[in-house]
Amino acid sequence: MTSASAPGKIILFGEHAVVYGRPALAVPVTQVHADVEVSDSSKDGIWIDAPDIDLHAELNSLPSDHPLAAVIHKFFASLSSPHFLKEKMGGQRGVEIKISSTIPVASGLGSGAAVSVALIRALSSHLGHPMTNEQVNALAYEIEKIHHGTPSGIDNTAVAYGKPVYFIKGQPMEIFKVGKPFTIVIGDTGISALTKESVGDVRRLWEADKQKWEKVFDKIGEIAKKAKEKIENGELIGDLMNQNHALLQDMTASSQELDQLVDAARTAGALGAKMSGGGRGGNMIALVKPEIAETVAGSLKEAGAKNTIITTINS
Ligand code: MEV
Repeated sequence: MTSASAPGKIILFGEHAVVYGRPALAVPVTQVHADVEVSDSSKDGIWIDAPDIDLHAELNSLPSDHPLAAVIHKFFASLSSPHFLKEKMGGQRGVEIKISSTIPVASGLGSGAAVSVALIRALSSHLGHPMTNEQVNALAYEIEKIHHGTPSGIDNTAVAYGKPVYFIKGQPMEIFKVGKPFTIVIGDTGISALTKESVGDVRRLWEADKQKWEKVFDKIGEIAKKAKEKIENGELIGDLMNQNHALLQDMTASSQELDQLVDAARTAGALGAKMSGGGRGGNMIALVKPEIAETVAGSLKEAGAKNTIITTINS
């Protein structure tokens, strides 16, 4: 049996603007993760067992664009001798792929990217062809493109490397150092929202007035750059989070529910707060002193958060 795991992620700064070439910062969240186990089976075929979504099926019985089937097909297609390996797996002997995840779906925590990364890692190791982080990341990006249309690649990168990343689309990613660990409270609106939709809506705004939105993206890019410096120097980033949130509100990426949680966190003493990821639903994040993390988490619950996670960001 071969197993692999991949963490969730949050975007600290720069979501949406990152799709337009501006820098963004993302960090892994290890409290939630996707886990995959691949084992040989006495049954022929490639069997997928994903109890979280009540799925137990042979690969070929699923539509080829099924999110899990798509990862496996892309994985085989990426191998230099896919037919040989596919026969090896699905012919003489079968395999059972067990997939589970504690990362809420469509919530901005990178659940799709984490499942892809864990699945590619477990499959490649089981076949005796373990892939480098770079290879896993490149393949996971191909899969993000199927689901999200025009992803920047930041989600799969943060998840594949499992480190804080400073990311600019199309450029080699940079792992950044956290000068002094800091505490983030994550609050989940419980509303699932597809990244594809908010990204599409932002694109429509941009197409209608490119000059205006390019300036907004520039401002967000500057915030992300400043934030990286501050984090490396062990300084606080609360104000920058507030500024970034206001620009995301202008972009219609936020929502009433997200704004309500952001306000509740600030009122409870957070040093700054913003939505995180695609927006509309999903999660927000708040920077807090560790000693008030539980209080802020409690206030978020009172303000309607369905779930909260307290996480420490370090290198
Ligand atoms: C989603 O986690 C982040 C977005 O910037 C989309 C992307 O970068 O692909 C909204």
